[in-house]
Amino acid sequence: MADFDALASIYDSDFTHSIIGKRQRKVVWNYLKKQVGEHLDILELNGGTGEDAIFLAKQGHKVLTTDRSTEMLKASCQKFKNIETKYPIRLKQLDLNQASLHDQTAKFNLVFSNFGGLNCIDKTALNQLKNFIDSRLKANGSAILIIMPKDTLLEKLYRRWTGQHGLILARQNEEGTEVSVAGDLVRTYFYNPNEIQKIFTGYTLKHSFITGLIPSYLEGKIQKYKTLFYPIFLLESVLIKTKRFSHWGDHFLIHLQKD
Ligand SMILES: C[S@@+](CC[C@H](N)C(=O)[O-])C[C@H]1O[C@@H](n2cnc3c(N)ncnc32)[C@H](O)[C@@H]1O
Repeated sequence: MADFDALASIYDSDFTHSIIGKRQRKVVWNYLKKQVGEHLDILELNGGTGEDAIFLAKQGHKVLTTDRSTEMLKASCQKFKNIETKYPIRLKQLDLNQASLHDQTAKFNLVFSNFGGLNCIDKTALNQLKNFIDSRLKANGSAILIIMPKDTLLEKLYRRWTGQHGLILARQNEEGTEVSVAGDLVRTYFYNPNEIQKIFTGYTLKHSFITGLIPSYLEGKIQKYKTLFYPIFLLESVLIKTKRFSHWGDHFLIHLQKD
């Protein structure tokens, strides 16, 4: 069983349909609607249960969505059956650690990776994945990647508040840190926007901003302090407009365009 297989059946109820999950995905979709143009060929990495593939296909794009987890692929395949789109969504198993496509000629306008799939690979693999992305993007194509940073502000405050001092700097570890995913421990690597920009040589930074401040796992833990969400949501709406604090987010979106 691959990492994330066990999560597939509960991923939508745990994250996709949570308040935080919906808010952050809306931020990403609003950006995609405004910034990526029309009728694109899109390669989606780590597509999970297929929410974004459906959104993109409904926008009129041709989507090839991929994931390593067989169960995630099954869950998305199930959803795609009931969706009417101009082009059928294509689906393929692809591991970010050894990314390849059989069709050597397939090229894309956009490579898209949402909500932390890239946090599942280490820096060496990320550098290799960058080369794969290079080889698959058309001229002036873009990579839009949504990643968990090292400096998530509210996680640090939460760890301090709950006395988990040893975990405050856990995300800084270059060797990664174990994160529980539906009961499985998954080694997870965190990257700040400047590190991603450094890896993507030959690309211009179009934008980078937080998709939200509150880590989704806190939604259940701080239910009784829910009124705190509202001022935080207000702060989010300010920070979303600037590149400066993207390393503070739960995730950040980085848009890089091939030169
Ligand atoms: C947090 S989920 C995000 C799913 C989806 N992109 C979304 O926005 O809801 C992370 C996804 O990354 C996938 N993943 C983890 N490691 C991977 C790898 N090495 N290769 C490909 N996919 C991977 C998981 O199977 C999971 O579907």
